[in-house]
Amino acid sequence: MFRGAARMFSVVTTTSVCRGILSSIRHYCKKTPTKLRISKALSGAELGANVRVQGWVRSVRAQKTNLFLHVNDGSSLQSLQIVTSSKQTDPLLTFGSAVEVTGTLKKSPHQKQAVELEADQIHVVGTCNPPDFPFKIKERHSLEYIRQFPHLRCRTNAFSSLLRIRSEATTAIHSYFKENDFVQIHTPVITSNDCEGAGELFQIEPSSPEKEENENFFSVPAFLTVSGQLHLEVMSGAFSRVYTFGPTFRAENSQSRRHLAEFYMVEAEVSFTQSIEDLTKVMEDMFRFATEHVLAHCAEDVDLFHKHVTPGHRDKVDSMLKKSFPVITYSEAIDILNRSSQKFVFPTHWGCDLQTEHEKYLVKHCGNIPVFVTDYPYDLKPFYARDNRDQPEHTAAAVDLLVPGVGELCGGSLREERLDLLRARLEEAGLEDTYSWYLDLRRFGSVPHGGFGLGFERYLQCVLGVDNIKDVTPFPRFSRSCHL
Ligand code: 4AD
Repeated sequence: MFRGAARMFSVVTTTSVCRGILSSIRHYCKKTPTKLRISKALSGAELGANVRVQGWVRSVRAQKTNLFLHVNDGSSLQSLQIVTSSKQTDPLLTFGSAVEVTGTLKKSPHQKQAVELEADQIHVVGTCNPPDFPFKIKERHSLEYIRQFPHLRCRTNAFSSLLRIRSEATTAIHSYFKENDFVQIHTPVITSNDCEGAGELFQIEPSSPEKEENENFFSVPAFLTVSGQLHLEVMSGAFSRVYTFGPTFRAENSQSRRHLAEFYMVEAEVSFTQSIEDLTKVMEDMFRFATEHVLAHCAEDVDLFHKHVTPGHRDKVDSMLKKSFPVITYSEAIDILNRSSQKFVFPTHWGCDLQTEHEKYLVKHCGNIPVFVTDYPYDLKPFYARDNRDQPEHTAAAVDLLVPGVGELCGGSLREERLDLLRARLEEAGLEDTYSWYLDLRRFGSVPHGGFGLGFERYLQCVLGVDNIKDVTPFPRFSRSCHL
């Protein structure tokens, strides 16, 4: 509209007409409030401006002469205080309702906030009946309670903070890889392989298989991916540093606090690796980079967790970042467990898989900071793990990163690049035909390479101290639960 008026001004040149148009432009500009996000309004940069904000009411307080509202639009943990005459009180203006407010941004006379909006007009866009709304004004609901309302929990302070942190951590991880010259690969969600060989696959097929065109849709059995690793390995034959960050799926019939049926995984693959240290360096650097970024860019949101949800957790995070992460071998880990006075439920003999109770003990033993465990028994690891032929015990060049409160955060390995050894292992498993393309990768310009995967939800649990993985993902999927 403004641009249209200006164009008219350049065509009609009579002075009085110009004056008239200019005054109507001024009038229009004065009348049209600038639409502002609440984080911008709170920054104080627009003091004195006539603005329009939109959001959801987080509190309503009526006093003798004034009505105070706090309105939040998700751009910040803080809400903007709106002040208006109590004559403006509208019964529809309740906790949880959606509003549009116009008025003037002013310096607040109260210490609690720097800025407030003196409202000229408040329009209720969407009503909300408080007795029916599951969240109550001024009440701090537990994560367990709000988990019952997956369609509404983003309206609470805690969960909106979590979602902003999750978004910022995603940005940080992409930035880390960009700054370190990794190329992002969009690995497929639908695949015909079981990378981990654990048989925890969700098979997919058209919802109406009886239709002729849907019969045998992909010609081969197809699954939701459990890992993008093998597709990254394809790319690592042409790109020396690649990564992917996307959803992965496991049909694990688990109700545990660290397993989901759908979770996000960050995976990296590095070519021309000399040793497992090349991988632990990337894992540790990425962990530090992302965590420092989140602490710096989401300070208020992280504080909410560290003060009200998991009090005292900030000190634990600071101590994780202070020291470099220790490295122990699997054999040393077994020794530590066997020397412990703690009674474990699961056995701790050489060759056993490390269970959560073992992982948590090892982390504690190493000073409650992240710890790398390397060189696992060969038979515990999938077909792609590199055989450590030079060691007395039969181990693979695999590494897990164990972290406080969670246990395993990352799993990775050097990949078997030697054609004869890889072929023999695939033959033994009867997989030589299935993976003939994978053997090709070793035939044509094969190089030593390796990589790892980090469970993104477990990362958030570790940094925020959240006990249950269902509380760090927007829409948790697990066995016997797929709401929405
Ligand atoms: O150790 P995993 O199974 O490793 C792989 O899938 C490799 N192919 C990755 C690679 O080398 N590119 O899984 C990696 C991480 C685990 O350490 C864990 O943090 C997370 O993914 N994870 C889960 N997170 C939530 N729910 C589950 N069911 C998970 N399973 C694994």
